[in-house]
Amino acid sequence: MKKTALITGGTKGIGKSVATSLAKRGYDLILTYSSDSKIAKTTADELKGLSAVNVFLLQADSTSVDAITGIAEYLAEKEIMLDTVIFNAGITCRDAFEQITLSDWERVFFANVHFPVFLLQSIVGRVSKGGSVVFTGSLMGIEPHSVSLVYGVSKSAVHSLVKNLVKFLVPYDIRVNAVAPGFVDTEWQKTKPTEVRKSIESKISVGRFSEPEEIAEVFLMLMDNKYFNGEIVVVDGGYLYK
Ligand SMILES: NC(=O)c1ccc[n+]([C@@H]2O[C@H](COP(=O)([O-])OP(=O)(O)OC[C@H]3O[C@@H](n4cnc5c(N)ncnc54)[C@H](OP(=O)(O)O)[C@@H]3O)[C@@H](O)[C@H]2O)c1
Repeated sequence: MKKTALITGGTKGIGKSVATSLAKRGYDLILTYSSDSKIAKTTADELKGLSAVNVFLLQADSTSVDAITGIAEYLAEKEIMLDTVIFNAGITCRDAFEQITLSDWERVFFANVHFPVFLLQSIVGRVSKGGSVVFTGSLMGIEPHSVSLVYGVSKSAVHSLVKNLVKFLVPYDIRVNAVAPGFVDTEWQKTKPTEVRKSIESKISVGRFSEPEEIAEVFLMLMDNKYFNGEIVVVDGGYLYK
């Protein structure tokens, strides 16, 4: 029986790596992205080249409430049932504490927390029994974040959300977990200056950023192992243990 997964922010980085692993397993994929339609199309073509899967792209900005309706209507119209939902799209705001505005704070919280809550509420009936939801949390939701207050606090909320959702998803026979990556070599990190990256690497016991594929493997473990429920699995290469 063909399986289907929805991945928010599925066209690059961690989301793309999870999509690649699932395409290799023969999953049909619905991938959302924010604005880079060129790369989204390239990713979809690459994935379709891996195996005979269908890949649907949805431009759906997680900072917009309309995107929730857009995704829900798309699934309803096409009568799509999901086996897996990966809430991966996330944003940050790196403005200094003194400069951050209420609207910056609300924007990050909306994208990282409110959006997945209300999207899940809209589509929970489209997730098959025995299905699985996996969030992308962050080490910065556990260790205090030196760069963005709102990002760290919003990812802590994601971790708490996962644990709280467990009970609410029991009636649907859906499990929910999160992967909390440390530092992953994606576009998100590649813009950091070399000296900042070196400083980060010096604190990681394995001495390097992770590859997105190493993070994707943990998503698959959480989907496959049916005894994981309400877990936040940290994958940080031993950050601060050096
Ligand atoms: N990289 C890390 O070190 C790291 C560590 C811990 C947690 N994380 C978390 O991992 C997740 C993915 O990060 P990444 O490093 O894989 O990033 P990435 O390589 O920059 O990829 C981001 C993906 O999300 C999409 N996206 C960005 N903003 C969006 C929005 N507002 N609405 C919908 N989609 C959006 C992008 O689409 P467009 O290209 O169209 O913008 C792209 O598909 C985030 O939740 C992040 O907080 C990352």
